[in-house]
Amino acid sequence: MLKVINVVGARPNFMKVAPIVAAMKRRSLKFLPLVVHTGQHYDAAMSDSFFHDLDLPQPDTHLGVGSGSHAAQTAAVMERFEPVVLREKPDWVLVVGDVNSTIACALVCVKLGVKVAHVEAGLRSRDRSMPEEINRLLTDQLAELLLTPSADGDRNLLAEGVAPERIRLVGNVMIDSLLKHTAAAERSRVREELGLAGADYAVVTLHRPSNVDDPAALGRILSALARVARRLPVVFPVHPRTRRSVEEFGLKEDEAGADLRLIEPLGYLDFLRLYSGARLVLTDSGGIQEETTALGVPCLTLRENTERPVTVESGTNRVVGTDPERIVAEAEVALARSREGGRPRVPPLWDGRAAGRILDALLERTRALRPN
Ligand code: UD1
Repeated sequence: MLKVINVVGARPNFMKVAPIVAAMKRRSLKFLPLVVHTGQHYDAAMSDSFFHDLDLPQPDTHLGVGSGSHAAQTAAVMERFEPVVLREKPDWVLVVGDVNSTIACALVCVKLGVKVAHVEAGLRSRDRSMPEEINRLLTDQLAELLLTPSADGDRNLLAEGVAPERIRLVGNVMIDSLLKHTAAAERSRVREELGLAGADYAVVTLHRPSNVDDPAALGRILSALARVARRLPVVFPVHPRTRRSVEEFGLKEDEAGADLRLIEPLGYLDFLRLYSGARLVLTDSGGIQEETTALGVPCLTLRENTERPVTVESGTNRVVGTDPERIVAEAEVALARSREGGRPRVPPLWDGRAAGRILDALLERTRALRPN
């Protein structure tokens, strides 16, 4: 029986951990899963609603860390997570993604001699100004077992000198959640509530510090979005980090003829229902590049790079940067294509069964490490 602490901290963690914990509960002779929530995200809309939508069990422990500078937030997670690990004595701690909670918990464990498994290992944007890139690099150095979503992850890790026996290609566990909840999302009334059922519309999300912390930079992107919104309604659920800059910039939502709608962040099912019907998604999120690829929804990534090149090579994603003229031009090109044009080739192992492969990899690595 393997006792595994599954760490969640921020919004993009919940849909990765939910299928893993559910799979562990199904294999209860082999796994005893615990869930620890660091509290990096804490608003009802950023956290609680995801537990509900994804059937994620309430955390066994909530660290209540909240917001802060990178150092303060990372340090607070470490201080509060260490006693939990000492108390629970898990066989493994499983961390996902690239948020501050991921690196903080991995670092605690490696110092205590507790094995770490990293889900979504090996992704690289090669942009060290992104806090997430630092979190990815360091977590992959520390973890015993590196579970990659796509073959480029394996190649990146091997090039960094990681031993092949620590790497396992398991596929994309976010897609497990996506496929599991597609039917439930169809019951969401979000398109009707926005008056967009059957209509053409675009969806936007933005939260990268490089795009939203400087109101002037955000303002340039918003001006491009307002131009797109003259052509079709653009729905923008606003992340709390982004809200501050929007208020400072003083966005004129009613800019001549533009249907740009700023709304509160949506829960998992409502958001799935919304973007799955969109003609176009514009985003700086990593996960949404993957989800739109899996569903064949055209996506423009408003960044200079991506750690998920497979979404460009075989998916529907285009990395277009943040220059307003380019955003508007690329949106025109995407909207000119027919809705059915170019069904995506979904990357291998993005098949809804990644969680099972993650559990198999944990069992196998445990056996391999056990002294004879
Ligand atoms: C974090 C992750 C990012 C991930 C994103 C998803 C890091 C370094 N970044 O960024 O990789 O893509 O989550 O959302 O870990 N806030 C609230 N309520 C909340 C959470 C945050 O109001 O529930 C506000 C706070 O003012 C906070 C700000 O949002 O200061 C940013 O939150 P933070 O956790 O620092 O990072 P994110 O920008 O959300």
